[in-house]
Amino acid sequence: MSVRPSLPRPAESASFPTLFRSILVAAFAAEGCIDDVTAAPDAATPDVAPPDTTVLDAITPDVNWPGPDAGPPLENACPAEQTRYYAPDQLDGLRSAGRFDYIEWRTFSRASWDGGLGGAAMWTTAATSGAHCATATSAAACESAFAALANEPAPATNHGWLHRYTRGDEVGAIRGVDDFVRLFAPVDTVGEAAFVATYRHGLTVPCVGSARRITTGGWEVLGGALSDCTFRSGQRRTITRTLVRVAPDGASTAIALETRESDDWCPVPGRRPDGLRDARPDAPDAVGLWLARAAHMEAASVFAFESLARELAELGAPATLVEAARRSADDERRHARMMGRLAASAGAAVPPVEVEAPCARTAFAIARENAVEGCVHETWAAMEALAQSSRAARPGVAATMGAIAVDEMRHASLAWQVAAWLEPQLTETERAAVREAREGARAALEARVERGYDRGLGEALGLPPPGLAARLVASLHAALA
Ligand SMILES: [Fe+2]
Ligand SMILES: [Fe+2]
Repeated sequence: MSVRPSLPRPAESASFPTLFRSILVAAFAAEGCIDDVTAAPDAATPDVAPPDTTVLDAITPDVNWPGPDAGPPLENACPAEQTRYYAPDQLDGLRSAGRFDYIEWRTFSRASWDGGLGGAAMWTTAATSGAHCATATSAAACESAFAALANEPAPATNHGWLHRYTRGDEVGAIRGVDDFVRLFAPVDTVGEAAFVATYRHGLTVPCVGSARRITTGGWEVLGGALSDCTFRSGQRRTITRTLVRVAPDGASTAIALETRESDDWCPVPGRRPDGLRDARPDAPDAVGLWLARAAHMEAASVFAFESLARELAELGAPATLVEAARRSADDERRHARMMGRLAASAGAAVPPVEVEAPCARTAFAIARENAVEGCVHETWAAMEALAQSSRAARPGVAATMGAIAVDEMRHASLAWQVAAWLEPQLTETERAAVREAREGARAALEARVERGYDRGLGEALGLPPPGLAARLVASLHAALA
């Protein structure tokens, strides 16, 4: 059990920006950097090509292939420069396999990042191959039917995908894996098998050596799935390696082989609402994935602050705290829009925010969540945003993070002010449990910033590298706890 002081000190909003900047300047100095913390160097810095891999690509198939069937040598589903199966990259192959004139990959998501409150489905055409209606006997009729498909209502889900195609006079859509299988059966290419494993079983399928024919007919595909982050802020994810058998008629079964720790960590998103469901952004690369996750978490924070404002009011908190929580929800709506634009510029789709209906919570539960999500995670999010505002090389990121950092420092201050008001009302046992939760979250954060750093991603987005990040975490908590 921690022997730190029993209560966090009251924190004044006005002193937080000064404190954060002085910590960052000291950490930069220790690194030998001379960064100006208040500068936003976007315009002067060259663009950095985003890395073309994601952490999931690190899943390496076992050379000792599991399963009883001895098949021919493994095939490579993708060109050498690609490292995972991603449907939009495969359209040329699908077009020739299906003898289409044209095929496109469309995704939709609801306007979740605009406050996380749902909305109209937004369709995006992510990739195309060929020319629509190229061999139709009546181009006008074909084009008209093709255009009509663009306006069909999205399914009653929050995000998804669709293939739209033309083949002679035929115009159609593939709205799910079952449609895909009907059109392409028998499943006789490694790409088709990888499609089934990816989009029916939710796996990431690396290309090299990740699928093979089996002698009984059909395919075996090896992939991996990362664990959800629900209730696991800042924790390390696990990967479950999974074998999918795909029969020639498209029927498939998945067998979990092993679960092990991954190099990916659940984001430390700022203030995460209780009951947030995990979401899987669709992104072409690591930069897009990071931006989409960040946009999703900004939108999720709207829910966290709305709950906090309501609960503080019910507990009779000072009006200044309640009002600050309400204003913070508005800040997070704005952040979600800003990060959503950055994610869209990187070709990433931000998944909708889904939060389970909140239950009534005790003062202890609220204080414990505030300690972890506010005093640790949101305080770190503020510091990370401030660091990014002076280090990010990718255009647009530094300026956006600079604007966000100003608000996040205010949110961090609010977390410590809520703690200073709420925790004295708890029993000694409850206070000890809250303190322990805060210390545990800080220790997990220290471990998290020391691991899983991708240099290309870090430089593009200005994320502090491990040594600097560890110094920042330690300095922050020495100053605040
Ligand atoms: Fe935010
Ligand atoms: Fe925030």
